[in-house]
Amino acid sequence: MTDLTINGVKHTHNGDAAMPLLWFIRDEVGMTGTKFGCGVAQCGACTVHLDGQPIRSCVTPVSVAAGKNITTIEGVASDKVGAAVQASWRKLDVVQCGYCQSGQIMSAVALLAKNKAPSDSDIDSAMGGNVCRCATYVRIRAAIHDAATALA
Ligand code: FES
Ligand code: FES
Repeated sequence: MTDLTINGVKHTHNGDAAMPLLWFIRDEVGMTGTKFGCGVAQCGACTVHLDGQPIRSCVTPVSVAAGKNITTIEGVASDKVGAAVQASWRKLDVVQCGYCQSGQIMSAVALLAKNKAPSDSDIDSAMGGNVCRCATYVRIRAAIHDAATALA
């Protein structure tokens, strides 16, 4: 039995503690905002926060998340930085197909939580593991700068 706290709500997983956290979030809790892309920590679509740190939930066993605070895209707006990032994403119309964007937002929020005024190279380095097949990278970068300005 594994106790998991997702967006402030406690859940219990009774199955294999080695199961990827992504399956618990999507299939057991039913939060489908976090996406499955590559399954091997290469695309960032499955990014969530574990105690504020961005992690790839497709390769993170449920056991690693036990006792930690997990935040998904469904919970990110309750945080000031998360709300600002989502507002900038909408304002700059970042999204194309949208598939990668939950992961992109989670990485952007984690960046701005620790770096209030990131440079272009800070952004490129923090976001380098989040792949967008629609190539929205220029608008993602602009939205991160916009959110940083809004939060200043
Ligand atoms: S699905 Fe996890 S990094 Fe691609
Ligand atoms: S918006 Fe389509 S994959 Fe990024």
